[in-house]
Order: sequence, then structure tokens, then C-alpha cells
Amino acid sequence: MRLFVAITPPAEALEEMEALAAPLRAAWPRLRWTGPAEWHVTLAFLGEVDAGVLPGLGTRLERAARRHPVLQLSVTGAGTFPGARRARVLWAGIRGDRKELAALAASAAAGARRAGAPPPDEGRRYHPHLTLARCREPADLSPLADALGDLAGVGWAAAEIHLISSSLGAAGRPRYEIIGSWPLRPAAPRPASIPASERPGSQRPSSQRPGS
Ligand code: 2AM
Repeated sequence: MRLFVAITPPAEALEEMEALAAPLRAAWPRLRWTGPAEWHVTLAFLGEVDAGVLPGLGTRLERAARRHPVLQLSVTGAGTFPGARRARVLWAGIRGDRKELAALAASAAAGARRAGAPPPDEGRRYHPHLTLARCREPADLSPLADALGDLAGVGWAAAEIHLISSSLGAAGRPRYEIIGSWPLRPAAPRPASIPASERPGSQRPSSQRPGS
């Protein structure tokens, strides 16, 4: 089976993205557009994986997820792969805890490798993104990248990772199915703020002084 590890934005972020993508989709009908049901941020693409590897893979991914905190992210900005003038992919960018996101992606890839499902791209620079459209032939997508350049989506918390299988669905579109999910480590609670009057060395109001 063909597998990848990813995080998925919440419905609110997907709806917001769809409102921006819908008119562009209508204006550029020759691209192969993706939709909210397919939108995800790939952490590690594993390719073809033997079903026998799944139990070990689950254990490794669970462990990897637990080592990384819940991430604050947003869908922001846009770009193309490779360059805008001969692009094959139009993507929306991911902002926020990007350093931690890259560390999570590296852990997911390492866990998969240890489980016997080595990611073919492991070690390549990680560029988090959400694929919006693909081209059959390289094309100039700069007007699209420009149109989405100011995109600044709502912030959301990524709290889990998913193992997703990809198969061929209707009309040659990929069909994604989540086959496992594991939680990230909850963010440490902020220390409760202590009222100024109770901080060490603070003066109580004179009316409350003992004996006054
Ligand atoms: P994407 O993240 O750019 O959209 C399933 O194919 C997912 O894995 C897609 O989201 C896809 O690209 C990502 N992916 C990463 N490397 C891939 C590769 N070499 N072949 C196919 N998909 C890949």
C-alpha cells in the first residue's frame, strides 16, 4: 500500500482556503485542482509499504508524535514547485511553529525508516505546504501564486499526526484514507499568574495590614 504521514488543518481553515481556491479553480480549469477532502501537510512520504510493517510503523509513529508538542500553525502565502514560470505544483504555505514542524517531520521519517518503511525523500530539505493544484505540463503559474500571495489564514493547533493510505479513486483522483492517528504532546500549561499583591515582597494595602 502507498502511505504517507501528514497533519490535517481543521474544517475552519479548510473552508477559508476553499473560499479563496474556488474562483481560481473556475478560472484555471485545465489544472488538476485538489479540494478540502485531500488537503493535508505531508510530514513524510513513505511510498509503497508492505502491510507487514504496519504494526511496527504504528508503534514508531506513536513514539515520534509523543516527543513533539502541539503546534500552532496557519495556512499563509503561496508558491510553486519548482519555479513559477515552469511550475508543476501550486501550493499554499504553512507558517507558525515551522522549526518544530520540521523536527516532527524528521522524527516521523526516522520512525518510519526504523520500522522498515524508509521514506525515499528522507534528508531532503523539508518545505511544509498544502498542494492546491498540479499541472500536466510545466506552466507559468505566477498569476496564481501572486493572487494567493497575501493569503493569511486563521491560526490552528495541530494536535495529532495521521498515517494515510493513498489509492486511486474515481476519475483517476487519489483517494486518501486515514489508517492511524497519534496525538502530539500537549503544550505545557503556562504558569498561573500570581496577583501582584501576593508576590513575595509586595506590600499589602494598608487597610488589610494585620493589626491596622
Ligand atoms: P504533496 O505533499 O506535495 O501534496 C501523497 O502522495 C502525498 O505525499 C502527497 O501530498 C504528495 O505531495 C506527498 N509526496 C511527497 N513526496 C512524494 C513523492 N515522491 N511521490 C508522491 N507523493 C509524494
